[in-house]
Amino acid sequence: MVRSVNLRRNQSFKRFALMALGLGAVWLAETAVVARYTRPTESQLAQGKELFEHKWTEHDSLSGGGDGLGPVFNATSCVECHFQGTVGGAGPNKFNVKTFEILPTKKEPLPLAGIVHASAVKPELVESASTVRRHNPIVKNGMKVIGGCRIDIVDFDPIHYDTSNTPALFGLGQIDKISPMAIRTQAVKRSLGSATKEFSLNFNSTPIGRVRVLPDGRIGKFGWKAQFATLKEFVAAACAGELGLSNPMKKQHVPQEYREDKDAKLDMTRQQFTALVSYVENIPAPRRERPTDIAAQTIVDRGEALFASVGCADCHTPNIDGVQGVYSDFSLHTLTDNLNAGYVKETEVPLPKDHPALDEWKTPALWGVADSAPYFHDGGSPDLASAIERHAGAARHVRNRYRALSEEDRAAIVAFLKTLRAPAGEPVANR
Ligand code: HEC
Ligand code: HEC
Repeated sequence: MVRSVNLRRNQSFKRFALMALGLGAVWLAETAVVARYTRPTESQLAQGKELFEHKWTEHDSLSGGGDGLGPVFNATSCVECHFQGTVGGAGPNKFNVKTFEILPTKKEPLPLAGIVHASAVKPELVESASTVRRHNPIVKNGMKVIGGCRIDIVDFDPIHYDTSNTPALFGLGQIDKISPMAIRTQAVKRSLGSATKEFSLNFNSTPIGRVRVLPDGRIGKFGWKAQFATLKEFVAAACAGELGLSNPMKKQHVPQEYREDKDAKLDMTRQQFTALVSYVENIPAPRRERPTDIAAQTIVDRGEALFASVGCADCHTPNIDGVQGVYSDFSLHTLTDNLNAGYVKETEVPLPKDHPALDEWKTPALWGVADSAPYFHDGGSPDLASAIERHAGAARHVRNRYRALSEEDRAAIVAFLKTLRAPAGEPVANR
């Protein structure tokens, strides 16, 4: 026992030293990225808003030489999904997107992400699980299942489906400017903190998340899996993927083939695309709506203090790189428990080291969370209390501390979250 404690202390100390070195290296390696930013004109922003709200059709008059909406798409405008609170907001489960990930196999050693589009301009182009299967057959004897002293070799299905709920786009221009260095430094600081706690034999600390390093070495910040480094790239992918609009950065998809159509003509000119990006960059950030009533204010303040003291703020970091009240570390965490403890599943080819596991998700920013229900990547949690209850895995101990609070204190945390509102703006009618 003593020996193992000493060993653990020793390991913690080594980790502490390594982290300190790491922090220095990060500072050296990543000098501050100064975002190149030119202020868009009023007419550019107005044009961008129009493009965001425009209901696209096949051969749309706005799409110049291209084919307009589609051939495959999920909705006909950005605002059809992004509307709660005001233009640019989150969306209900009705507009969830069916996504998939193809896990690596010997034949296709790189993972691949895709969308099963909900609609198509012609019925014969509609996508489904069977069109995904056509490209990704079951691999015979592709998986080893090791349980105790038994090893089974079984067939391996490389397709993993997920559901993606529409997040809000408020304040994303500010998130775009958070430097990769700030996210890394934040993670290293957290690990220094937890190494210090371990050193004093307090093992009840939140595991540090993983910063998402993309295959090209950049840090991902956008999307439920932090799969995009910049807002501009996400907007390009949204135009192409959700609406089937080819743009200067990304081409629309070939129906049922889950790849870009390199030959597609542009549905958006560079000028239109730039206007749309500028508009999205400038959608105002969420606001804090403090109650005017003194008693209610006291509850909210208590909730905010408890949010930090039970450990929510370990992952939902209030401020980062000058962005105030965003509540995210922009890192990946696993909030599910390993249901098959004792079993190891080895697929033909493991995921690349920096690729997120299937159940790893980026800590979502909580600003505006009062107006963005339903919650979690799949929209599976209808309200704030159920979203908090769903935290297991890396957040299990924090969730348990939350559960151990009095009913009033739990309600105070929810009351605090309810002050994190969408920005003021015109409501979007008739959805
Ligand atoms: C069918 C519904 C739907 C439509 C239409 C849609 N989106 Fe989205 N949007 C989503 C979903 C779902 C996500 C989350 C995707 C993910 O992370 O995997 C998302 C995420 C985003 C993000 C990243 C948000 C973040 O915080 O990381 C941006 C930016 C975005 N959308 C912009 C747009 C723009 C611009 C349009 C119009 C060209 C658009 N979206 C159209 C559903 C939609
Ligand atoms: C270990 C890191 C971690 C801790 C600790 C943590 N969270 Fe989270 N939280 C996450 C991640 C990751 C998600 C998204 C999970 C998903 O989408 O599958 C999330 C989602 C949420 C959501 C839903 C947001 C949305 O937009 O869907 C709320 C609300 C939330 N957390 C509140 C809390 C509160 C309150 C606490 C403290 C009791 C807490 N969290 C502790 C990582 C954490």
